[in-house]
Amino acid sequence: MLLEVRDLQVEFRTRDGVAKAVNGVDYAVDAGETLAVLGESGSGKSVTAQAIMGILDMPPGRITGGEILFQGRDLLKLKEDERRRVRGAEMAMIFQDALSSLNPVLSVGDQLGEMFVVHRGMSKKDARAKAVELMDRVRIPAARERVKDYPHQFSGGMRQRIMIAMALALEPALIIADEPTTALDVTVQAQVMELLAELQREYHMGLILITHDLGVVADVADRIAVMYAGRIVEQAPVHDIYKAPAHPYTRGLLDSIPRLDQKGQELYAIKGLPPNLMHIPPGCAFNPRCPMARDVCRTDVPPLYEVGDRRTSACHFWTECLNG
Ligand SMILES: Nc1ncnc2c1ncn2[C@@H]1O[C@H](COP(=O)(O)OP(=O)(O)OP(=O)(O)O)[C@@H](O)[C@H]1O
Ligand SMILES: [Mg+2]
Repeated sequence: MLLEVRDLQVEFRTRDGVAKAVNGVDYAVDAGETLAVLGESGSGKSVTAQAIMGILDMPPGRITGGEILFQGRDLLKLKEDERRRVRGAEMAMIFQDALSSLNPVLSVGDQLGEMFVVHRGMSKKDARAKAVELMDRVRIPAARERVKDYPHQFSGGMRQRIMIAMALALEPALIIADEPTTALDVTVQAQVMELLAELQREYHMGLILITHDLGVVADVADRIAVMYAGRIVEQAPVHDIYKAPAHPYTRGLLDSIPRLDQKGQELYAIKGLPPNLMHIPPGCAFNPRCPMARDVCRTDVPPLYEVGDRRTSACHFWTECLNG
């Protein structure tokens, strides 16, 4: 397994109290595999990603438990300089907003080239050639001329391609893309997503794709992890989940996808709100909103049940859920 996150726990200490943002996340990604991470706003998707990348805000953040096994090593046990090396060359992250992630006062050619100068000891000239090659690779028209341009001179879609190029530069084994297309126009979204999926296959990388777009998930993901209140409530191969979810929260998410054949009908929405992370309800965190909840759900935290091959559910009543 390329990456295995085991029982990861992260909290934030704030003036108002301790927010338990990540409460025992378990998920795994293999080389050449795309894992989509779904879940409502605030469920801990980005915080988990930041912990894996080693870019968590500490303080106020604190990793209080768990393991992050990457190519067999526990990243949480590495020294900071080893960690930095992994982050630069072996895993990379793509963010929603390229404009705030790219350096505004460096040309894109210099930013891309810098990766090769710093990590590969290349000359400036060779690094520049590499930058042009990468810009071609992510299909930026007239790459040779545009390599001297600055980030703000590119459209949103093109900037996102440049960020993909930055992430790919050192051919990492793992890429984490945190809502990489959310800020783009719908038509551009599809093109950028297609490009990312194509490169992921070609380079045989592991990809963790955080997204709200269930349409994208069906097209590009191999597996899905559904997060709720800082925990993975269900993890499964894509087709299994679409066929029959094994957690009522997953069912709620799937039922809230707009469908073309139901135009005009009111969209189903999961009732209620996600919990306050300073006061997560006892038992199953989803119980106050769950149509299936019973007494045990209000008292006992569900373990991760093995539902099938590499498939888990954190619902006491997963069998009932599976059978519809
Ligand atoms: N820097 C921080 N300081 C304090 N609390 C934080 C910080 N970053 C995150 N949190 C807490 O962690 C929770 C989870 O945040 P996270 O960004 O992982 O959510 P998310 O699932 O990525 O949501 P979204 O879909 O909106 O991006 C937040 O609700 C917040 O309470
Ligand atoms: Mg997020």
